[in-house]
Amino acid sequence: MERYASLKSIASYVPKRCVKNADFEKILDTSDTWIQKRTGILERYFASDDQNSSDLGAEAGRIALERSGLQTKDIDLVMVATLSPDYLGMPSTACLISAKLGIRDRPAFDITTACTGFIYLLSLAKAFILSGTYEHILIIGAEKVSSVLDFEDRSTCVLFGDGAGAAVVSASCDKKNSIVDVHISSDGTYCDLLSTPRVVRQSHFLKQSSLSPYLQMKGNETFKLGVKTLANDVEKIMKKNNVSSEDIDFFIPHQANLRIISAVGEQLNFSSEQVVITVQKYGNTSAASIPMAMNDIYESGKLKNGDLMLLDAFGGGVTWGSALLYFGG
Ligand code: UT7
Repeated sequence: MERYASLKSIASYVPKRCVKNADFEKILDTSDTWIQKRTGILERYFASDDQNSSDLGAEAGRIALERSGLQTKDIDLVMVATLSPDYLGMPSTACLISAKLGIRDRPAFDITTACTGFIYLLSLAKAFILSGTYEHILIIGAEKVSSVLDFEDRSTCVLFGDGAGAAVVSASCDKKNSIVDVHISSDGTYCDLLSTPRVVRQSHFLKQSSLSPYLQMKGNETFKLGVKTLANDVEKIMKKNNVSSEDIDFFIPHQANLRIISAVGEQLNFSSEQVVITVQKYGNTSAASIPMAMNDIYESGKLKNGDLMLLDAFGGGVTWGSALLYFGG
């Protein structure tokens, strides 16, 4: 019997504190009008001081597990994508989430592929399942992006939000519920477009670092490269799998900027019913943005078992990727 990997459940967690564009007017030289016009964002949510990415991820992971009908003991592997881990280096956010969910004696690790994180996780989960290594994998995009934002930098801090999205990917014998194809890529020569440098602790042995500890982005260059790369990448995956825009039920792009989403959506001839847009209410939640958007259409009853989804993302590194999959939930 053929073996496939299937996305069995989807879930998200959004922290409580809602921050409106107008709230930034009080601390920065910016305006609700500028933010809306240039990005489409109306509001975003920020985690509380005592909530870290692992707390957000654990909440989403718990719901994804419940919705999959599995128990913690069934999960063979936990993988987390984040650019805002609880700790720098170790322990991984995946280890912390595993502990919070009561998943013991299983492998757990993080990946650092910024906003493309969820697509990289899908690619890894698919490979682990098709190789026969694992049966059930919990994948999570968890981000407290606010922890790496410079709230004096109007060109970045208004763009991002916190949140988490999670999914269970399981082995399946049903092609019509499977992850059809995932494409991931990167180009490190563009590493200076987006970064979170982190200050190196001063010591007698090191010169003082001139790097900012906060997220930095060359917005306009990122925008242009993002639109070009994504449209190209999505066209390629559709062509390779002999799929046209009419075959897709939902196009779920990374939610960075409404103008990027619209440009790519129009170039590929998707109707407004096909394109899932959540950037207006969550901002850019990096690795969590795609599963959060997917969860929105799941919870509103639009996403049904067997629907064909097309995902795409572009982020720091730079990294990018696209995925074509049926919903198996
Ligand atoms: O998720 C990972 C991938 N990320 C992305 O794909 C994001 C890509 N980039 C973008 O979404 C857009 O480039 C931004 C929303 C970041 C910026 O929009 P833009 O149309 O590219 O604006 P810009 O950077 O060219 O700046 C235009 C003007 C500048 O002023 P001057 O030099 O024309 O006087 C900025 O200083 O807008 C100014 N500006 C602001 N004004 C009010 C920048 N940020 C703000 C702000 N409020 N928050």
